[in-house]
Amino acid sequence: MNLLAEIRRRFAAALENILDDGGAVNEFAGMVLPSQDAKFGDYQANLAMPLGKRLGKSPRDVAAEVVASLQVGDICEPPEIAGPGFINLRIKNDFLTRQLKRALNDTERLDVSPVAAPRTYVVDYSSPNVAKPMHVGHIRSTVIGDALYRVLKFLGHRTISDNHIGDWGTQFGMIIYGWKHFGDEQAFAKAPVAELTRLYRLVNTLVEYFASRDEIAPALRRRVGELESRVALMELAPGPKAPADQKKRDKSVQQAQADLEAARAELVVVESKLLETEADSDFVELIKQHGNVGQAVLAETAALHAGDATNRALWERFLPPCLAEINETYLRLGVQFDHTLGESFYEDALAGVVNDLKQKGLAKESEGALCVFLEGFEAPFIVQKQDGAFLYATTDLATIQYRMREWKPDAILYVVDHRQSLHFAELFAAARLWGYENVELEHISFGTVLGEDGRPFKTRSGSSVGLSGLLDEAVERAYKIVCENDDKRPEPLLSDEERRIVAERVGIGAIKYADLAHNRTSDYKFSYDKMLAMNGNTAAYMQYSYARVRSIFDKGGVEADALRAGAAAISLDHPAERALSLALLQFSEALDRVVIDYRPNLLTDYLFDLASKYAAFFENCSVLRAENEELRTSRLLLCDLSARTLARGLELLGIQVVERM
Ligand code: ARG
Repeated sequence: MNLLAEIRRRFAAALENILDDGGAVNEFAGMVLPSQDAKFGDYQANLAMPLGKRLGKSPRDVAAEVVASLQVGDICEPPEIAGPGFINLRIKNDFLTRQLKRALNDTERLDVSPVAAPRTYVVDYSSPNVAKPMHVGHIRSTVIGDALYRVLKFLGHRTISDNHIGDWGTQFGMIIYGWKHFGDEQAFAKAPVAELTRLYRLVNTLVEYFASRDEIAPALRRRVGELESRVALMELAPGPKAPADQKKRDKSVQQAQADLEAARAELVVVESKLLETEADSDFVELIKQHGNVGQAVLAETAALHAGDATNRALWERFLPPCLAEINETYLRLGVQFDHTLGESFYEDALAGVVNDLKQKGLAKESEGALCVFLEGFEAPFIVQKQDGAFLYATTDLATIQYRMREWKPDAILYVVDHRQSLHFAELFAAARLWGYENVELEHISFGTVLGEDGRPFKTRSGSSVGLSGLLDEAVERAYKIVCENDDKRPEPLLSDEERRIVAERVGIGAIKYADLAHNRTSDYKFSYDKMLAMNGNTAAYMQYSYARVRSIFDKGGVEADALRAGAAAISLDHPAERALSLALLQFSEALDRVVIDYRPNLLTDYLFDLASKYAAFFENCSVLRAENEELRTSRLLLCDLSARTLARGLELLGIQVVERM
């Protein structure tokens, strides 16, 4: 059961007697929260102050009034009113033990009830552009999306995952161009993805070189020039008289100087990279022959879209190995999708979408392009370019249309990094205009993965870090740690094969957990050392806690299933036992918190707290050597439920446990 929800219901019932506005009743009942500190009881209601204000009564009187009609005798000790009117609740021990028994006997759901009103969710996550290898940037979407999918589903919602892969964009134009000019049949036959990756990188380097030489560097030079004259002018201008104005002026001069320095530094980087490239004589040959690569890549993409037979055939040849490659990564990550309907899937629907928008008077021509003008946005949402090409935006509108028709969702969640915020804000606004008003459209935005230096995580040469290499390294490091720990034992516990399996779970779990444990909207620093630490808020610590509990059963030769089936009672004499029990019963509250604002870190927080309470319990309460048989059984039951709650929680984050490590 969800204890917090139940207590809130009781408060709502009590508040009905005091307030006549239903909305306000729920709002005030929502002010009941788990206590931050056990000395204020287990739950606390902070509603008397605002309620007193509203009713023009003193908070303490209001608190007394609420308590007088509050029916919680079956759950709590008599409520206490503290300070200016806090209502503190302490759950009765016999209630706790009864609930623990229910959770113990419900091996599947741990007594987490499914929601009363299930909704249909479509979760759009991972969604990489498939013609290039997955990189570190894809971790967050994949892992956060997968965790949300799992939690929503566990809570009883109809949940549909759809991997909206980029299988139709410019990256295919790059590969096609690359293949036509540099393709190597033999290499492709041997290792298709490696060959496609080589082509992608080569063409991309060329495209970037020209962009940098012909656009970025000149623009930077212009900016440096402008800033230089701005600074010079500022320094020449006569100073203002008033000291306050003088200060202001100094500040803006300093700002301009700082901007100038920054622009100069940026230019140095760009120019030295250009020089470096131009020092490579092979590359200079390429530059000479492929001066038009940028345009040519776009032309290849356009030809593909227009149905050009050669390009279609190449696309059909290249796509399967690309998909096989990303699927391998998914397999390793333990991520599956209900659907993988990429951009190409919607190709045939795009013209219809644009026509419909035109007919409804929503899309209008502007400078040759077709645009949806949206209130509150500076730029219009372009759905068709002047040359007739459709865009990412058009595909996303078609995707909404399809999802709404096929699945009739109540909500569509897009787990995509924060740089696409504007796109989604506009997409949602356009979709509303188009008539999709009764669906929750949500951009589940997230921050950037940073390197140890605090800048976006890149390889030394400045390219993005490949995902599979990242996983390999985490697993390799985990393997070393697992071996070291096991070798420290008087007698090692694990065979090498077991060590490998453990390392895979610990390594991958570490990466996933580190990502999930951060508030998704913040950036975070990627650090193998931190994420693989055996102590602290890490997957390794959770997995270790789990394995440690399991080892108690091993050591004691106890069958957990048989124990659960028995009629043994649970006693909560030690404060650490009680604290652990309460935490165990709050699992369902944690899951509810996750889905309010789609934040998996609220589940990692919960698991860390649970593991810490378990550690405190284990330190304070002997289990196998408890004073008597009843106590031993009671504690073993707590151990069992702890292990299963940890395992279930980790599973909902997409992380596997190991029985021994
Ligand atoms: N393929 C896109 C990218 O790599 C992300 C797609 C996200 N989903 C969507 N429906 N737009 O940036």
